[in-house]
Amino acid sequence: MVLRSLVVVAVWTVLLHVPTHAELLASTLVPSCPPQCICLSQSQVVCNSATLRGVPAALSPSVMQLSLSRADLRVLRSDAFAHLRQLRRLSLDACNLTRIKPFAFRGLPRLNELYIQHSPLTTVDAFAFAALQNISSIVLTYNKIAQIEGYAFAGTNFIKLISLRNNPIKRILAHAFSGLNDVNQIEFPSGIRSLEPQAFAGLEGVGVLELAYMDLPSLLPDTFFGMTRIGRLALRESDLGVIRAGAFDGLRYVDILEVCNNKIDGVEELSLVRNNSVRTFKVTGNHMLESPEAVVLEVDNIVIRGNHLPCECGRDPLANPLALTQDFADENYCISPLKVRGRSLSSAAGAVCRGEGGGSARARAAVGAGHAARSVYPLAPPRLTLTIATIAFLTNS
Ligand SMILES: *[C@@H]1O[C@H](CO)[C@@H](O)[C@H](O)[C@H]1NC(C)=O
Ligand SMILES: *[C@@H]1O[C@H](CO)[C@@H](O)[C@H](O)[C@H]1NC(C)=O
Ligand SMILES: *[C@@H]1O[C@H](CO)[C@@H](O)[C@H](O)[C@H]1NC(C)=O
Repeated sequence: MVLRSLVVVAVWTVLLHVPTHAELLASTLVPSCPPQCICLSQSQVVCNSATLRGVPAALSPSVMQLSLSRADLRVLRSDAFAHLRQLRRLSLDACNLTRIKPFAFRGLPRLNELYIQHSPLTTVDAFAFAALQNISSIVLTYNKIAQIEGYAFAGTNFIKLISLRNNPIKRILAHAFSGLNDVNQIEFPSGIRSLEPQAFAGLEGVGVLELAYMDLPSLLPDTFFGMTRIGRLALRESDLGVIRAGAFDGLRYVDILEVCNNKIDGVEELSLVRNNSVRTFKVTGNHMLESPEAVVLEVDNIVIRGNHLPCECGRDPLANPLALTQDFADENYCISPLKVRGRSLSSAAGAVCRGEGGGSARARAAVGAGHAARSVYPLAPPRLTLTIATIAFLTNS
């Protein structure tokens, strides 16, 4: 054993003394490492140099983990990593990316984690993240993404997480998620101002999809058209504006649909029919400035609780089209008129129009204060900050 080691050492010494052989060995055994990179091993390479322009071509095809953080990449062309088929983890943080061309990540069957954060990227182009099979996460937080084009993720499936947090996304365009299948969770940023009709068309199989802190003028017809198999779809903590007739048309197979803690200016029609196949529909903690005009809920379980709704003079609270649950009048509250605000619908029912005599001074004072309250509901779609102010105002009193 000792003898054999000695022989090996001797052979090495001889080889190393012959420069041409040494070069030969270096090129066959040790993959070349680009000057801006540190090759920690055959499978792990770090190129964190701002002098690196573009994806290095001369990397070993056996690289599994590659970081190009802080490189100066600018534009990723199609098939940019096709020479690195073993890649499992790819980090492109802070690498000055402004554009990702269609199919940039094609040919990476084992890619599991992809990070692109802190870059000046403003648009996710069509097919930019297409054809990523079996990836577990695509993390796109802290970029300047304002727009996701249709089919950006087409053909990508079996993914745990797509995170778009902390991006200035204002609009979700039609078909932005078409062709994306079986995602556990998609995380959206706050501040979305427009969901186009069919924004989620062709998105199939999502565990959780939460849309929160939006500021919409209205929830348009067909917003969720063509979206199927959703575990939980939540519209929360948002200014939803007016819910237009047909907003949920074409949405299919949802375990839980939640509309929680939103400000809603009006509801033209709230309709979930058999064909929507929604198992549970929860409407909780919303502030509705007007009673819905029409409600059709063909849903297995309905929860309508803790909402603040208009209490109209002389009108039976159970005449509200939302009065579809047993304890509706006990579990929901008046948002207006001021006199009965915060009281349960049932307890306020008789009080709204009563009190022409002794109660009138208080009622008049309340009407005076009511002007202030009313002025917080402008006719134009109010901004979210205003919503929060309104809700705070209403719940504090
Ligand atoms: C980023 O790219 C722009 C051109 O798109 C270039 O002008 C700038 O110098 C780059 N910045 C860094 C830090 O590489
Ligand atoms: C898919 O990813 C999982 C881990 O997330 C891995 O165990 C499996 O081998 C991958 N399948 C293929 C075909 O690469
Ligand atoms: C239910 O929806 C599917 C898909 O949107 C459609 O093809 C079908 O005609 C609808 N059925 C009814 C009864 O509306």
